[in-house]
Amino acid sequence: MRLQVMAWGVALVLGGCSSAPRHRVLEPVPPDVAPRVAAAEATMTEVQQRLFKRLTAELERGGPAAAVTVCRDEAQPLTASVAHERSIEVGRTSHKLRNPKNAPRAWVAPFVSAAAGAKAADVKPVVVDLGDRVGVLKPIPTAPLCTSCHGAREALSPEVAQALKDGYPTDAAVGFAPGDLRGFFWAEVPR
Ligand code: HEC
Repeated sequence: MRLQVMAWGVALVLGGCSSAPRHRVLEPVPPDVAPRVAAAEATMTEVQQRLFKRLTAELERGGPAAAVTVCRDEAQPLTASVAHERSIEVGRTSHKLRNPKNAPRAWVAPFVSAAAGAKAADVKPVVVDLGDRVGVLKPIPTAPLCTSCHGAREALSPEVAQALKDGYPTDAAVGFAPGDLRGFFWAEVPR
């Protein structure tokens, strides 16, 4: 009986894996694709740096609760404007989302679920063959600074908790500790 239950468990796990529409990982990255991957990485880095600059400036100026408002109002338009400037689709996603607009695209979703709960150091960047496009994923680690808004829910300041409640009624992006995988940058470039 016990064995049968185990066998079912294994079948379910395997079934789950094989039914996921997982795209082919390009490993190693072919030389003709490398410049496109480099452009995707530069775009993700730019989004990261510009968001980080706004975040840290606002944390210094008004503290974490004020910075929540800045993230809420600026993260999406800032990401969209970098994408537009560089003509590369780019975004952020996670297995635990704050903004539902950051839900993973279909090709990204299997990688996000596979890495859920991992330590960032254990997750590698991935380049994926999307046919006429190439997809690039870059893991985002949780830094100590991030925990004022993404740490344990009971450890958030009352002001931050309130700002999150007001801005994000379905917020799930809490419970992260430094070193945890917070999510991914993703980018799509034409091949
Ligand atoms: C001041 C509060 C605050 C801090 C500090 C903060 N974030 Fe966030 N984070 C937010 C808000 C608000 C959003 C939702 C932005 C949006 O609407 O797209 C967000 C969204 C995200 C997302 C997109 C996925 C999702 O859940 O919607 C990632 C990834 C992320 N944050 C990572 C980080 C990392 C890494 C750090 C530390 C370097 C960090 N955050 C620090 C408030 C914060």
